[in-house]
Amino acid sequence: GRLRASEATPPPPGVLFGTAKEEGNLLRVSGERRGEAGADVGSMALYSSESSRAWVSFKDGIWEECDVVNSSEQQLTLRITQTGEQKNVERKKIGFHYRNPSAVENADDFLTLPNLDEPNILHSLRVRYWAGEVYSHTGPILIAVNPWKAVTIYEQTVLEQYKAQKSTKPHIFGLAAKAFRDLMSSRKNQCILISGESGSGKTESTKFVLQVLTAVDENKTGASASICSQVMLTNPVLEAFGNAKTLRNDNSSRFGKWINVHFDRKGTIAGAEIKTYLLEKARVIHQSAGERNYHIFYQACQSAGQHKFLQDLGLEDATQFEYTKVCLHANNTDDVKSFERTKQALHFIKFDQQSQTNIFAAVSAVLHTGNLNIGEDREGNSTMEIDKHLQQVASLLGLAPEGIKTAICCRNITAGTDVMVKPETKEKAIQCKDALSKALYSKLFDYIVKNVNVALRLKGAQVTMQVSVLDIFGFEVFQQNHFEQFCINYANEKLQLHFNHYNFMLERQLYQREGIELVESDFVDNSACVDLIEGKGWGIQAVLDDVCIMPKGDDQALLDRLTSAPQMKTHAHFDSAKRRSDTFTINHYAGSVPYTIKDFCEKNKDLLAADLVTLLQSSKNKFFNSLFENQASDATPSKPGRKGGGGGSVAYKSVSATFKTDLGSLMDAINAADPHFVRCVNPNGNKKANCFEDQKAVEQLRCGGVIEAVRMCRESYPSRYQHSEFVGTFSCICPQAIGAGDPRQQCVAMVNSMKIDAKQYRLGKTMILLKREVVDNMERMRAKLLGGRAVTLQTSVRNFLAKMELRKKRDTRRKYLGCVHLQSSFRRTLTRAKYVRMLQAVRMQERRKEEEEAKKRADAAAAAGGAAQKQAADSQVAQDSRAAVLQGLGDDDDSE
Ligand SMILES: Nc1ncnc2c1ncn2[C@@H]1O[C@H](COP(=O)(O)OP(=O)(O)OP(=O)(O)O)[C@@H](O)[C@H]1O
Ligand SMILES: [Mg+2]
Repeated sequence: GRLRASEATPPPPGVLFGTAKEEGNLLRVSGERRGEAGADVGSMALYSSESSRAWVSFKDGIWEECDVVNSSEQQLTLRITQTGEQKNVERKKIGFHYRNPSAVENADDFLTLPNLDEPNILHSLRVRYWAGEVYSHTGPILIAVNPWKAVTIYEQTVLEQYKAQKSTKPHIFGLAAKAFRDLMSSRKNQCILISGESGSGKTESTKFVLQVLTAVDENKTGASASICSQVMLTNPVLEAFGNAKTLRNDNSSRFGKWINVHFDRKGTIAGAEIKTYLLEKARVIHQSAGERNYHIFYQACQSAGQHKFLQDLGLEDATQFEYTKVCLHANNTDDVKSFERTKQALHFIKFDQQSQTNIFAAVSAVLHTGNLNIGEDREGNSTMEIDKHLQQVASLLGLAPEGIKTAICCRNITAGTDVMVKPETKEKAIQCKDALSKALYSKLFDYIVKNVNVALRLKGAQVTMQVSVLDIFGFEVFQQNHFEQFCINYANEKLQLHFNHYNFMLERQLYQREGIELVESDFVDNSACVDLIEGKGWGIQAVLDDVCIMPKGDDQALLDRLTSAPQMKTHAHFDSAKRRSDTFTINHYAGSVPYTIKDFCEKNKDLLAADLVTLLQSSKNKFFNSLFENQASDATPSKPGRKGGGGGSVAYKSVSATFKTDLGSLMDAINAADPHFVRCVNPNGNKKANCFEDQKAVEQLRCGGVIEAVRMCRESYPSRYQHSEFVGTFSCICPQAIGAGDPRQQCVAMVNSMKIDAKQYRLGKTMILLKREVVDNMERMRAKLLGGRAVTLQTSVRNFLAKMELRKKRDTRRKYLGCVHLQSSFRRTLTRAKYVRMLQAVRMQERRKEEEEAKKRADAAAAAGGAAQKQAADSQVAQDSRAAVLQGLGDDDDSE
C-alpha cells in the first residue's frame, strides 16, 4: 500500500479501546495492554517498555512528555516526565496523544509513524533536527528545517547521487531531480511550491532547485549553457533589489517569485522566465528599528567612493540619506563586495552601461527624494526649499525643480473650465513625496525583472515544457496584521485550496480506479474561506474595491460595510465575535487572524497624485518617461478597470484586484502542472544554529498545512493494501478466512470475522483501504500472535541447535579417540617391523662372522698350529660387536 502502519504499532490503551463502540468488534477483542505477549520478540519488546509514554498539552501548542499511570474512558492519571509531578486530568480538557516508540521516531517519512498527530510529528522533526537531518517527508510534502549554519549536504557529488537516483534520503536535490524526471517521463509541466515563514530557507531552497535544474542536462551547448549561468545570476540581481535585512532574516526577500525554467523536447534548457508578486514598497520609505532598506541602496552608497559614475549620480555615504541612515549594516553582508557581484551579474544579464547608469540614477533619485525638505508656512501650507537634493532629483529625473516642488506641495483643482492651484498640507506633501519614492522604486524593480526576462529568453528555442518554482511568503500572523498580511494570507489560502484539491484529486482518482464510493466529508476543504475573500459582489475584496471608489470611502466605512453585511455575519470564517472598533478577523485554515483596518483603502488604491504623474510623463529623460508610461493616478474616482485620470488613458486597477488577477494566473499555471511541495521551517527566531523552539516549529507546521495534511490523512483511509498483501499480512489473526475464495473474498471474510465496522474500511477492486487505528490494532494482534509463536519456534530451534551441538561434540571425541588408537597401532607395527629387521641383520652378521671364523679356522689349521693365540683374540672381537648391535636395538625401542 501507499501508506502503511509500521510493523508493530503501539496501541494507546485508553484511546483505542475506549472508543470501541460495538460489542465484540475488533477493538474490544484486543482489549489487553500491549506488549504482554511475546515480550522478548523484536519490536514488541520495544513497545512493552515504552507503552505508557505520551504527550500532554495543557496550553495550546505546548506539549510535555508524560507517563500514563492510569487510564479510564474519561480520566487519566499522568506523571509529567520533567517534573515528576503526578496529575489526575479529564481527557476532554487536555490535549493527549500516545507517543511513538523511539525506534521509529526519526523515520524519513512522518506518514509512516504509527501515531500521526501534532506532538508526534513535532517530536520526530525535533529528533531529526538534533540528528543533523535538514529534510524529512510528510507524504507528498518535503519539510526543510533551516539549520542556520553551513551543512555539507550540498556538494556536487551529492547532487550527482540524486540525479542518478542513488540516494532516497529526503533532500531538496532529490525533489528537484524527481520533478525533472517526472517532466521527462510524463511530458507534463511540473511545479515546486516552496513556502514557509520569513527566514525559513525558501530562497535558499529555490536556489538549490535551480542548481539541479540547470545541471540536469550534461550535454548542453553554448546558448543553453549560458542561459543556465544567467538563470543562476538572476539571484544576486533580484536579491540586491528585492531583499533587505529584517529582524528575522538578514537577507529577506520582500517579494514573491515564480520562476519558470523552460525545456525543449530533449530536456535541454530553453530559457527561463520570472514573475514577481507584491514587492514591499513601504520599506523604501520606512524601516523598523534594526531593519534596513533594500540591499542595493547600501551597496551603491558604500561603493560610491570606488566608482565615479555613482558619484556623478549623486550617490554618497548611506549615513547621508534619510531612507538608509536608520540601520547601516547587516550581518554576514559585505555591501562593497556585493555591489561588485550585482554589477557583474547585471552585465551578464545583458544590462549595458547605459541601462546600469539608468538603474543607479533611479536608486539615487529615490534616496534624494527621501531627503527633500518639506516644511510648513504660517498658514499651515507645505513648503519646500530648492536645495541640492531637489536639484539632484530634478536633474536625475529630467525635470525642472519647480515642477517637482509644485507637484508635491500643491494640487490642481478643476472647477468647470478653471484650474486652481491649492496648496497641500505638510502631511499630504510628505505622503506625496513618499508615494513618489515608492513608485520610482517599484517601477525600477519591474523594469529590472522585465529585462531579466528578456535576457533569459532563448531565441529560436522550442519550449515544450517547464519546471516552475514558487518562492512565496508563507502564512503570516503578527500582533498587528495589515493589508500586506491580508494579501499574503489570501495567497496562502489559495495555495492551501490547491493543496487540498490536489490531494483530493489523487484520492478521487484512486477511489474511481478502485470503484469505491467517495464520501466528500472525508476531505478537508477551505474553499469557503477563499470565497469569503474573493466572493463576487460580497467578498472582502469586492467590498474593499467598492469602498475605494466611493468619494467618502475610507477605512471606517470599509469596516462598517464588512461587519454589517449579512453574508459576513453568518460566515464561518468571518469572526464577528472578535470584532473590535478597528479590526476584523478571518478564521484562516492555519488559525484566526485579526486584521487592523488602518490604511487598507490607501494601500489598496496605491495611487500617485495626478499632477505628479503628468509631470513624470513629461520627463526629458527617456528612461523615467518610459517607467511611468502606464501609471494610473488619483485624478478621477473610477471603478476598477475604468479609465483613470492624470496620465489620462490608463486603466486603473486596485492592488487587491491586480493581485487577484496575478494570483488567478498563478493558480492556473499551478493547476496545469504536477506539484511538488516544500515547506520550510525556521527552528528559532534568533537566526541561531542548534536551537529548536518547539512552539515556533509547531506553529509553522500548522501554518504550512503539514498538520492539516496529516489530519486529512488520518481522516481518510491512510492504510492501503493490495488484497493479497492484506491477506498475506493479516490472515494469521483470522485463519478461518483463508478458504473464502479469491483474495478479495478473503478480505471480506477477514473484515467480517474481525467485526470491523463498515465505516472503518473501504473495499476496492484491487485494494482495501483502512483507517489507521484499525490497522494499528490488527498489527498489535498480529504481533501478539506472532510473538507467541515465535517463542515456541525459538524454543524448538534452540533445542534442535543444542542437540546438533552435542552430536558434533560427541563426534569430535569419537574421532579423537580413534585417531589416538590408530596412531598407537601404527607405531607398534612400525616398531615391530624395525625390531624384526634389526634382529635379522644381527643374525645375518653373526652368521657371516661364523662363516668367516670357520673359514679362518680352516685356514689356520692349514697354516700352523701356533696361531691358537690369535684365534682367541678374534673370538673376543666377535663377542663385543654382537653386544654393540644389541645395545643399539635397545636404544631404538626406547625412542619410539
Ligand atoms: N539549507 C540551508 N543550509 C544552510 N543555511 C540555510 C539553509 N537555508 C537557509 N539558510 C540560512 O537561512 C537564511 C535565510 O534563508 P532564506 O533567505 O532562504 O529564507 P526565506 O525563507 O527566503 O526568508 P524570507 O521570507 O525572509 O525571504 C539564509 O541566508 C541562510 O543563512
Ligand atoms: Mg526569501
